[in-house]
Amino acid sequence: MTAPNAEQALKSALQASHAWWDDMGVDIPVVPPAPRTPKKAHKPIAKSAPPRTAPAAPQPDAAKQLEKAAEQAKAAPTLEALKTIIEGFDAGVLSDHARNIVFARGNPDADIMIIGEAPGRSEDESGKPFVGPAGQLLDKMFAAIDLDETSLYITNVCNWRPPGNRNPTEDELTMCAPFITRHMELIAPKLIIIVGGVSLLALTGKTGIMKTRGNWQELDINGETVPAMPLYHPAFLLRRPELKKDAWRDLLAIKARLDG
Ligand code: URA
Repeated sequence: MTAPNAEQALKSALQASHAWWDDMGVDIPVVPPAPRTPKKAHKPIAKSAPPRTAPAAPQPDAAKQLEKAAEQAKAAPTLEALKTIIEGFDAGVLSDHARNIVFARGNPDADIMIIGEAPGRSEDESGKPFVGPAGQLLDKMFAAIDLDETSLYITNVCNWRPPGNRNPTEDELTMCAPFITRHMELIAPKLIIIVGGVSLLALTGKTGIMKTRGNWQELDINGETVPAMPLYHPAFLLRRPELKKDAWRDLLAIKARLDG
């Protein structure tokens, strides 16, 4: 068992090294979690052989972390408290690699909550969601229906940038679920915008953003049924601009619902 201080020092060293590689534009391969139960002693090929990879930080037990996330998130009385809990949470590979947690931007009193997938590089650096190229398109999309940060609250289903900019795994989404659930409870929005397939899966359990976008969903928030509209992710629209017309239709459906 590693002493807590040594564990923290190891994590900080790993984070600094990952940040350096990241700055160099190199995607870091994910180091698999260290086994929790010691296996039979593995005979090294040669005693003096140098290690081939950096040692993996000890990974928390997934089930225990989920339990901890649920317990702590549920007890958060305010947004500030929830943010502090997430900042202090050991999310394994996610928190080992991220520079900052990405919590939210916009108006906490807004009726509309936009929920994206996971932070990218710009978000990881700034600690704010949707501030990179995809975020700029997202802002333009909502400006087109007269909505901006004064009437929107923006967050993600995952508060840490996954290493190498990959999507969060299903296990990671499960671990993050108590945080976004509590986040929705504390904001208590009247309408939710689900941005991208990963958020669709995390929030509704459904797969297939191509067929689900534009179709109103219902989310249960603290016993209240809240309408939710899935949209294409703006990063996807940047790669597939021909689909912007569908996104425009979906935005108009949101506007009609707000105006009606
Ligand atoms: N993509 C997301 O889904 N969220 C962000 O915050 C940035 C990019």
